[in-house]
Amino acid sequence: MKTPIVIALACVLTMRASWAGDYHTGVTLRCNECHVMHFSQQHGYEPFLGTGFFLSGPGPNESLLRNRRNDLCLSCHDGLGGAADVLGAANTGSQPGIVRGAGYLNRLGLTGQPPNGHTLDALAAAPGSQPSWKPEDRNGPGVGLSCTNCHDPHGMVGLGHPTGSQFRNLRSDPGNELGRWVTHNATPGVNDVTRDVFVRSSLSYDETDYDWNEPDDRDSAIARWCGGCHSFVHDEELSSGGSSGSGSGSSWFEEHPAWEEDLGDDPDILLRYNSQTNKVKVMSEVGFWNPAGFDVTPTCVTCHRSHGNGNPDGLIYRSGTGLSTEDGDSNGTSVNDLCLQCHDEGSAIASSPSATPLSGGR
Ligand code: HEC
Ligand code: HEC
Ligand code: HEC
Ligand code: HEC
Ligand code: HEC
Ligand code: HEC
Repeated sequence: MKTPIVIALACVLTMRASWAGDYHTGVTLRCNECHVMHFSQQHGYEPFLGTGFFLSGPGPNESLLRNRRNDLCLSCHDGLGGAADVLGAANTGSQPGIVRGAGYLNRLGLTGQPPNGHTLDALAAAPGSQPSWKPEDRNGPGVGLSCTNCHDPHGMVGLGHPTGSQFRNLRSDPGNELGRWVTHNATPGVNDVTRDVFVRSSLSYDETDYDWNEPDDRDSAIARWCGGCHSFVHDEELSSGGSSGSGSGSSWFEEHPAWEEDLGDDPDILLRYNSQTNKVKVMSEVGFWNPAGFDVTPTCVTCHRSHGNGNPDGLIYRSGTGLSTEDGDSNGTSVNDLCLQCHDEGSAIASSPSATPLSGGR
């Protein structure tokens, strides 16, 4: 039984050895953090956190995993000091007190947490997916949305990847699609505007420690990546081709640019955005975000936290003043605050959920 695994081990190790970058890749891909050879281990002998770790769930599991998928990842990524806490509003992980760039996940059955943004274990299909994509299609019957639907556990990137390293180990084959590459700079702190993300510090996931570049001024790598599961949203066609589609059927907010249209196309929008102290994130072609130039462009993560937060749809209620938070900021109270980052009262409030529904067509 052991031989195939040992061979796979050797292969994976040699293939990965030259790749630098994120955790769970190269030298930080430590097999025994997630796998166990015999499901009878009685003691922790791994230096992680200096305490070792144990078999915490039912088993044996497929692929010799220590625990079932989400439980496995959360055994380190939820409230354990040695790794980033990604679940729920309380951040008690390795980086307490930061404003987590991805926000925080929610989980089915997790009490005290509204079902906002991505919900682990949820069986629901991804809104806007065409053809319809649901987690069971990838995970097997009864297994809902998992970390590994979005992140590759081995930091693998897929064939033909331009740089060999995906930002945050994002899968290059999310949902229905292949080749959804999201690249980042090779050296933390040194921006490379030909790559999608500028990581300032590899040690922190605070929202101020990275920013989005825009290597192609008519595209957005992260929008394409989200589009692996959400092919049609906000009148954008995110599957293979062009930039406008059929809309998602969203009730009041049917269309919005997530690439191509710059803030500078409307000088009032740019002026307004630059007047905000706390800004939502936009992509820049030239690597300047604050103050932003004419080139900057909104995309999915301008408005949504990738993991989610305390607001419906993981939307960022950011008023521009007060203390920045994962939900927006301390003075932000509604989705209008998000729109008002860039639009004035007249245009934005008119399309808010409490007012007249926004109808399609420009
Ligand atoms: C962060 C957790 C994690 C680490 C670290 C990890 N694995 Fe895995 N491994 C998984 C998961 C989860 C699966 C199940 C497959 C999947 O979901 O993609 C898996 C599956 C496998 C498989 C089965 C084939 C496959 O891809 O499905 C092999 C072989 C394997 N891992 C080898 C290794 C080796 C060798 C290492 C160390 C170099 C390693 N793994 C490190 C999480 C991990
Ligand atoms: C044994 C503990 C452990 C387990 C189990 C574990 N992780 Fe991690 N993970 C870490 C540590 C440590 C880091 C880097 C430091 C930090 O998070 O503060 C990390 C970082 C990450 C990152 C960020 C990579 C980057 O850009 O730096 C992702 C994504 C991630 N883990 C996903 C997963 C997934 C998915 C699983 C389950 C398949 C998993 N982890 C299981 C310990 C663990
Ligand atoms: C691997 C597939 C997958 C990817 C990639 C993905 N999503 Fe989702 N998303 C889902 C599924 C499945 C649901 C429905 C279940 C749920 O709400 O968690 C969903 C739900 C949502 C919702 C509705 C949440 C709610 O409160 O009901 C929003 C908003 C969303 N996704 C935005 C995004 C954004 C933005 C990205 C890219 C950063 C993204 N998604 C990437 C699968 C995905
Ligand atoms: C629907 C897709 C999706 C799911 C499910 C998901 N992630 Fe993420 N995760 C992302 C994206 C996208 C980013 C980068 C987002 C950004 O910077 O806006 C990210 C970022 C991270 C980071 C960096 C921290 C941060 O705030 O930026 C870690 C660590 C991480 N994920 C671990 C996990 C673990 C562990 C799980 C499961 C418990 C998980 N993720 C589930 C999409 C997902
Ligand atoms: C300008 C802000 C903004 C941008 C940019 C944006 N969204 Fe949204 N999104 C919203 C708002 C507001 C809602 C809530 C709409 C509603 O309640 O009907 C929403 C809802 C959603 C939903 C849930 C739709 C449903 O039918 O349940 C998904 C999925 C989603 N967005 C994904 C994305 C993706 C993927 C991108 C990037 C291609 C993106 N969004 C870009 C503001 C934005
Ligand atoms: C970061 C800045 C930013 C934020 C935040 C933002 N928008 Fe926009 N919005 C833009 C830009 C840029 C355009 C394109 C303007 C142009 O081409 O003149 C746009 C266009 C629009 C349009 C016209 C759509 C079309 O294609 O004709 C509407 C309606 C709109 N936004 C509503 C909203 C609403 C509602 C919100 C809040 C949920 C919001 N916006 C948040 C920057 C933003």
